[in-house]
Amino acid sequence: MQFIDLKAQYQAYKAEIDSAVAEVMSSAQFIQGTALHEFERELSAYIGIKHAIGCASGTDALLLAMMALGVQPGDEVLVPDFTFIATAEMVAFIGAVPVFVDVDEKTYNMDPSDLKRKITAKSKGVIPVSLYGQCADYDEINVLAASRGLWVMEDAAQSFGAVYGRNKSGTLTCVATTSFFPAKPLGCYGDGGAIFTNEDALATECRCLLNHGQSQRYHHRRIGINGRMDTLQAAVLRVKLRHFDAEVAARQQVAERYTAQLNGAVVTPFIEPGNRSVWAQYTIRVANRDKVCQHLASKGIPTAVHYPVPLHRQEAFRNLGIGDASCPVSCKISGEVMSLPMHPLLGASEVDQIAVSVRDVARMPC
Ligand SMILES: Cc1ncc(COP(=O)(O)O)c(C=O)c1O
Repeated sequence: MQFIDLKAQYQAYKAEIDSAVAEVMSSAQFIQGTALHEFERELSAYIGIKHAIGCASGTDALLLAMMALGVQPGDEVLVPDFTFIATAEMVAFIGAVPVFVDVDEKTYNMDPSDLKRKITAKSKGVIPVSLYGQCADYDEINVLAASRGLWVMEDAAQSFGAVYGRNKSGTLTCVATTSFFPAKPLGCYGDGGAIFTNEDALATECRCLLNHGQSQRYHHRRIGINGRMDTLQAAVLRVKLRHFDAEVAARQQVAERYTAQLNGAVVTPFIEPGNRSVWAQYTIRVANRDKVCQHLASKGIPTAVHYPVPLHRQEAFRNLGIGDASCPVSCKISGEVMSLPMHPLLGASEVDQIAVSVRDVARMPC
């Protein structure tokens, strides 16, 4: 059994993907080729935003968007404590200070009441992460941030395709970023990412920065990076985007089947009313995680822990001197979460087998 079955997915779309890749190969437009421009157009139409800008990874997307917003060394940027490191890492990378905000115990997304407590005179912006495929509480966060003069950037690396009220993830904040890492709900065959915005000036700045700050060929207005998306990746993503809605529906069925079988035995995911998760992960909480993971492994069922160490405890952030009391929920859940296999081709009998194995040994957290 696979945690995410990318081989089976490739077999399902093989003819379309091979032909799209062959087209790029024969055009030899490897950088800034037609498939990239087409993909950007289709991406912006798909989520309903003016500008979708392909870039080299979700990490670069975060960096570029912050550079475009003018984040300066010493600025404070508020990020969730419980997530993948890239969000906070890019804040620190440009010399700004990540301020870790605790998360909600039900959704695992940024807790707006802790956000309010942690805003200071040095705060410039907030980067909530829409974790595991579910959007954070943007109604609360956007209002609070606007009242304090802060920008908000959704890190939608795990939530491309999710819906929040009537809007899609990626359209909920002044700028948003996503990742097309292979394991993401919409993944390419290497690294890739995108930036989304309705603001023309921000889009122009991001496009300039991802191409060495170039305004016209060999004229460089700002210091930028090489953060371009390869045409080959865009060609693969165009094919996968055509099948994406069907995949999201299949993920939803897998998630519902898991929840029906695991409810009461473990803490199952909580989806806020009005939210539609894209199920980047199906993550449960148990008191005896090591035992459950070992038992599943003995049955040939792979699992993963997203994430075992809260950001404030990471060695790379030790210099910030943040203690556990700052983010108690993040500390608690990082010891209990575990993700089960999740992909659109996971069969009902496999879900049933996994659920039985979990129920065999899992203990509910107190
Ligand atoms: C929340 C979050 N932000 C950013 C990233 C970085 O994306 P990439 O791996 O494409 O650089 C990831 C990737 O896992 C992520 O989960």
